[in-house]
Amino acid sequence: MNVHDSEKIAGIFSESGYDQSEESKKADVIVLNTCSIRQKAEQKFYSELGRLKEAKKHNPDLKIAVAGCIAQQEGSKLFKKFPYVDFIFGPDNIDNLQKWITNNPETGKRTEALKANPSYHTKELPIKREGRVKTWVSIMYGCDNFCAYCVVPFTRGRERSRPKRDIQKEVERLASEGFKEVTLLGQNVNSYGKGLNEKTDFPDLLSLVHGIEGVERIRFVTSHPKDLSEGLITAIQKLPKVCEHIHLPLQSGSDKVLTMMNRRYIYEEYKEKIDKLREGLPGIAITTDIITGFPGESDDDFQCTMDALSDIEFDGIFAFKYSKRPNTMALSLPGHIDEEIKSERLSRVSNLQEAITYKKNKAVEGEIHEVLIESVSETDSDKLTGRTRGNKVVNFYGDERDIGRLIKVKILEAKRHSLYGERV
Ligand code: 5AD
Ligand code: SF4
Repeated sequence: MNVHDSEKIAGIFSESGYDQSEESKKADVIVLNTCSIRQKAEQKFYSELGRLKEAKKHNPDLKIAVAGCIAQQEGSKLFKKFPYVDFIFGPDNIDNLQKWITNNPETGKRTEALKANPSYHTKELPIKREGRVKTWVSIMYGCDNFCAYCVVPFTRGRERSRPKRDIQKEVERLASEGFKEVTLLGQNVNSYGKGLNEKTDFPDLLSLVHGIEGVERIRFVTSHPKDLSEGLITAIQKLPKVCEHIHLPLQSGSDKVLTMMNRRYIYEEYKEKIDKLREGLPGIAITTDIITGFPGESDDDFQCTMDALSDIEFDGIFAFKYSKRPNTMALSLPGHIDEEIKSERLSRVSNLQEAITYKKNKAVEGEIHEVLIESVSETDSDKLTGRTRGNKVVNFYGDERDIGRLIKVKILEAKRHSLYGERV
């Protein structure tokens, strides 16, 4: 999501006549687009911002802007701590960048754009997209779920869906530019349509996008388990362009922890959804997010997470140590866990999943898969790289001219994090 926001920021600069600089030393403006989902991301930003103090000394005309979730979270406190910052704007105010670019050279004033922006979802922003084969399309902004650990509802504002017509227009344009795959993007795509005047929902949007000529693959992230409906399963069954992959964050296998996290499902309900997905869509790839060491997580609770991973056998996971975030409910919960225990649990989760992912990759050896060729492989320029419908990376020898095409590849060998194959 942040990468896509950066594409929007780059798009606005590009429309205003700015080129992207390869070297920060040569830049007139430096924008740091920040993430505050976990402390680690924040630390990275502060050390980067610290380095820019020198850059501003060398070039007093340099403008420094801070965008994204840390900008929203810290607000004008950043001006006090870092007097060399010129502009602060939150993720819900990217449209305000245009005004700053136009006005700032004249006023030179330090300004901020952090207020709630209830019409952001209706704005059409220029986007400078990376790549030419696959791309993202925002379908909604913000989040209303308030999971106890999560800062997103505080930094990205209330959940708002973009009107269907705007999404349609954007995808039609992308298809005409030659993009083959779109990923529909939102914090909680299964609740798409809530609050719009027109009556619609996510399966309905999938159908609409499916009808657009030129689009060959459709993906979506992220789904909240509580909102995953039978209608979505039917839509994936009926719409061949929609890839059989779902990212469905579980977070924990313990009902006690899930309740404390305010996830609004218990493990049994989550597992029922997995069973339904696998029944309706055999072979669907399922990936998830896991947090270790949430406040109050006992050894037994943690074991429930390990058991869930063995029980479900996800195709892949993203696992994180719980990280304290400002404003969130989890801050005031009792039973915060030692960093060492969180790390030890994280490595146990990662090791277990590593073996499961490898086993799942091994299971597709010998199979023929449809692959969308994305680019030349970064590690071997003779090879091409692409993804299966289940989002697994496949490398194989091929012709660069085929980038952007869907081809059949026979999987010859499973690696830990990718597959190696040959064109059929
Ligand atoms: N600590 C650790 N992980 C977090 N996530 C969100 N907030 C936190 C936090 N405070 C993880 C969740 C979410 C993913 C995007 O990031 O697993 O699904
Ligand atoms: Fe955060 Fe929960 Fe919203 Fe996801 S659904 S963005 S974890 S509050």
